[in-house]
Amino acid sequence: YPIVVLISGSGSNLQALIDQSLQGLLNIKICAVISNKAEAYGLERAKLAGIPTHTLNHKSFDSREEFDTELQALIDQYQPKLVVLAGFMRILTETFAKHFEGRMLNIHPSLLPKYKGLNTHQRAIDANEKEHGVSVHFVSPELDAGAVILQASTVIAQEETAETLASKVHCLEHIIYPLAVKWFSEERLTFHDGKAFFDKNAL
Ligand code: GRF
Repeated sequence: YPIVVLISGSGSNLQALIDQSLQGLLNIKICAVISNKAEAYGLERAKLAGIPTHTLNHKSFDSREEFDTELQALIDQYQPKLVVLAGFMRILTETFAKHFEGRMLNIHPSLLPKYKGLNTHQRAIDANEKEHGVSVHFVSPELDAGAVILQASTVIAQEETAETLASKVHCLEHIIYPLAVKWFSEERLTFHDGKAFFDKNAL
């Protein structure tokens, strides 16, 4: 099942996908990993796994539209059935989001619809939330607003810092993201009219 993964940083979620597919838990082929940052450690992870990599530096483009057009063309060359955003820190144009609508997933470190955008762990602590977590969702043109597929939560402890909370949430990410990818690749999870649907055998 051909997928393309987009990253900007460490790529621990990419690693979870690589590991699970090596273990035979996921029936995917990661055709390419694309980063907008040359120094993203996830590129090393991809190379170690023998996956083709590309860096497309957004700073070399005059506009968001030009960057997204080039990125879209690069992804399309691989004809993936699914595009996985795994810590890809770019706001997407509407054209790009529409092009991949229903076949592009993102993982966001909050219990959406709470805490869209950045700095989610600190914001949850500052708001005295009792729990916090992570959401996998289909990507829509509006930031962090597409149909939610799966969430996992954790308790915010008394002495919690943004760092300790982030590491707890990361563990949850590595469980639920591969699961959502698995369901999609098995066509047990689909997208219609802006909503996520599960086949009765999905759970
Ligand atoms: C994760 O916290 C994810 O929720 C967010 O970016 C981070 C990516 O981490 N969208 P990694 O690069 O997969 O380690």
